[in-house]
Amino acid sequence: MVPVSIAIDGPAGAGKSTVAKLVAKRLNLMYVDTGAMYRAVAYLCVKDGVDGRVERAVRELLDTHKITFEQGADNGLRVFVDGVEVTARLRDPEVSALVSTVATHPAVRSQLTDWQRDFAARHSVVMDGRDIGTVVLPNATVKVFLTAAPEERARRRQQEYHQMGYEVAFDDIVRSVIERDKKDSERALAPLREAEDAVRIDSTDKPIEYVVDEIVQLVENAH
Ligand code: C5P
Repeated sequence: MVPVSIAIDGPAGAGKSTVAKLVAKRLNLMYVDTGAMYRAVAYLCVKDGVDGRVERAVRELLDTHKITFEQGADNGLRVFVDGVEVTARLRDPEVSALVSTVATHPAVRSQLTDWQRDFAARHSVVMDGRDIGTVVLPNATVKVFLTAAPEERARRRQQEYHQMGYEVAFDDIVRSVIERDKKDSERALAPLREAEDAVRIDSTDKPIEYVVDEIVQLVENAH
C-alpha cells in the first residue's frame, strides 16, 4: 500500500505540533516533528559553542556528531546526539533564537530533507514544519497551512515556556515569533510558504478538536 502523508506547515506557534499529534493518533499514523530536527542542529551549535551562522562550521558539526531520532511513547519525536537524549533541551530559548539561522544552510536542509523523505516513503505520516507541502512531500495526500494571529501564537508560546519553567515577557515572545517567521519566510531555500494546493486553516479562535476534525475530514475525503 502506498503510504498516506499529511503535510502541516505554518508559522511558529500556530498549533501545528499539537494538531499533528492528535491527527496522527486519530488516524493511527506516525507523527514527525521536523522542527525538532532543525532544533537538534541548533542545540549542537549552542552546546559546542559553534557559530551557527557559518555553514562550514555547522556542516563539520554534523559530520562529527551523530543525530538520531526515535518515536516517543506520546508519539513525539525523541532526539539523541551521540546516543544521549536531548529532547528536553530543544525548546530552550537559546536554541529557539538560533534555529532559524541554522535552518538557512543548504547542507543542513538537504540532510534533514533526505531523512524526512526516506521516513515518509516507509511509513504513513503526519509531518509538520515549514516546507513539507512545498518541498519535502510535494505529493502529500493532504496539505494544510495552519495559521493564527501573531498575538495568539505568542500567547501559546508563553504558556509553553511557563510549563517548562521559563517566564518570558509577552512582548519579547511576540517580537521573537515575528522575527523567526520573517527569517523563515525570507530565506532563499525552502522558505515558509503556503503550497498552492494546501487548505488554509486559521486556528486563532478555533478549539484544537475542531481543527483536528477538519483535517481528519480532509483525509477521509481524499480517499
Ligand atoms: O516548528 P518549530 O517551531 O519547532 O521549528 C523551529 C524552526 O526550524 C523554524 O522556525 C524553522 O526555522 C526551522 N524549520 C524549517 N523547516 C522545517 C521545520 C522547521 O526550516 N520543515
